[in-house]
Amino acid sequence: MARIDTVATLDGRGPEDFAGFTMLGFASEPGQRLLAMLHGCEAVELAVHDGHVVGYGAVIGDGNTFAFLTSLEVLPDWRGQGIGSTLVRRLQDRFSGRYAFDLACDEGLVGFYEALGFTKATAMLSRNYGGLS
Ligand SMILES: CC(C)(COP(=O)(O)OP(=O)(O)OC[C@H]1O[C@@H](n2cnc3c(N)ncnc32)[C@H](O)[C@@H]1OP(=O)(O)O)[C@@H](O)C(=O)NCCC(=O)NCCS
Repeated sequence: MARIDTVATLDGRGPEDFAGFTMLGFASEPGQRLLAMLHGCEAVELAVHDGHVVGYGAVIGDGNTFAFLTSLEVLPDWRGQGIGSTLVRRLQDRFSGRYAFDLACDEGLVGFYEALGFTKATAMLSRNYGGLS
């Protein structure tokens, strides 16, 4: 298996590092928008192969009590190798002292997150699916 490093910093990263990530569906400048989102987070973890970002996990929080895993994405060619799980575990470790470390996900990913120790619950959402410029 290829060597993957995880790093907790955006230092030295530019929009080009994130242009291939499509989950959030930005219609224009996806790399720039994603990088701006990541800079606004309390914590990020990047999965890096040979200097290239192949996955990321992002957490917003209040610095004290609550944390929320807002997004997690692994580039298609790199999925199924444990990278997504590793990113979540790294973030779980970093936020293990919080009252809450929560997330919302689609039904198909319930098993993925249950295997990582999360419990299924009810969430209320207000989303701008497909509407980001
Ligand atoms: C979800 C995602 C991050 C998982 O990353 P990954 O690196 O492929 O995950 P892992 O290799 O660590 O998978 C661990 C396990 O979860 C399972 N799994 C991974 N993705 C899954 C999915 N979309 N649905 C159901 N199970 C999934 C794997 O089969 C694997 O099971 P195994 O241990 O029995 O083999 C990746 O599929 C992705 O980027 N998807 C698109 C974006 C997305 O949906 N993000 C989540 C937002 S909440």
